[in-house]
Amino acid sequence: MRKTWILALVCAAGLSGQSLRQLAEARSVKIGAAVNPMRLNEPAYAETLAREFSQAEPENAMKFGPIHPARDRYNWAPAEAVANFAREHNMALRGHTLVWHQQLAPWVTAGAPSPADLEKILGEHIAAVVGHFAGQVYAWDVVNEAIEKDGSPRKSPWSPVPDYIAKAFRMARAADPKAKLFYNDYDAEGIDAKSDAIYALVKDLKQRGVPIDGVGMQFHITAKPLDTESIAANMKRLTDLGLEVQITELDVRVPLDSSGRPGAADLEAQARVYGQVARTCLKFPRCTAIQTWGVTDKYSWVPGYFKGTGAALLFDREYSPKPAYEAMRATFGAR
Ligand code: G3I
Repeated sequence: MRKTWILALVCAAGLSGQSLRQLAEARSVKIGAAVNPMRLNEPAYAETLAREFSQAEPENAMKFGPIHPARDRYNWAPAEAVANFAREHNMALRGHTLVWHQQLAPWVTAGAPSPADLEKILGEHIAAVVGHFAGQVYAWDVVNEAIEKDGSPRKSPWSPVPDYIAKAFRMARAADPKAKLFYNDYDAEGIDAKSDAIYALVKDLKQRGVPIDGVGMQFHITAKPLDTESIAANMKRLTDLGLEVQITELDVRVPLDSSGRPGAADLEAQARVYGQVARTCLKFPRCTAIQTWGVTDKYSWVPGYFKGTGAALLFDREYSPKPAYEAMRATFGAR
């Protein structure tokens, strides 16, 4: 029943040809959202997601801890709920993430595993999770946030496994030869020490024949105007390697007042930044997706982490489109 209703709304938006997903599809760019499966039964959440977004990615449900809570137990249902929603609404499904230092199941490190044990665990995990969603997930964040701000390798529970990054990519390719494989990181959008190190890493992987298809740029940013020249230079050097780039976790936080509301001027500044991001991506045919880290300000991770800020997404707490949404539509609609 609900599905019919959602489809009717999608069709209604289609008649006027104005949803963001439709405008972006015409420019060959996917518009994604991080999805919490617990919210899919909220009509406004589901309707906004289906109408405006052409790609879904579980915000947490495919991470190691949530999906693999015990060595012999996988918790597929929450991630499958997102996969099913994506299929029912003709959306691409993106997978996040196989190798990360956070949200790891405690059992992995509990028994002081040797490097060989860890490598075996990693192999089993990637084979099971990528294999389970083969044919559904079109692109995986294989390795997430493995580089520090200064460009040095991050110390991670996976670090004891020699060359763990290359191994993880090879394991993922073996489990689903058709899925695109991404390295994903934050605070490395423009040229700096961190993005230099990521560039060196992925260039080295390519040169060694390790299967990698793209780099995810997270884009958790503020509403300060972007240095788009620097971001474009970074996108250029990555795409010149033959890699795709995708904007994977976009949110643009602004200050909130004591009642938790953003100011009008800040929302306008935010809209300009969203427009800058979309225009920069559109310069590169290999920039293939722009994904926001959530559907609505109501459930964004931002206020819980960056205290006193929030309202970082395209739709407000009541699911009304914000100036940022109009800026995105105008950018994709402009020729
Ligand atoms: O599921 C448990 C629940 O059982 C428990 O009762 C509750 C109590 O706090 O916690 C719940 O888990 C939380 C989980 O989100 C699901 O809501 C974790 O505490 C919380 O730490 C976790 O935060 C997530 C964070 O990654 C973990 O570092 C955020 O939702 C998620 O938005 C965020 O996403 C990351 C990307 O994966 C990688 N890039 C950065 C981005 C933002 O941090």
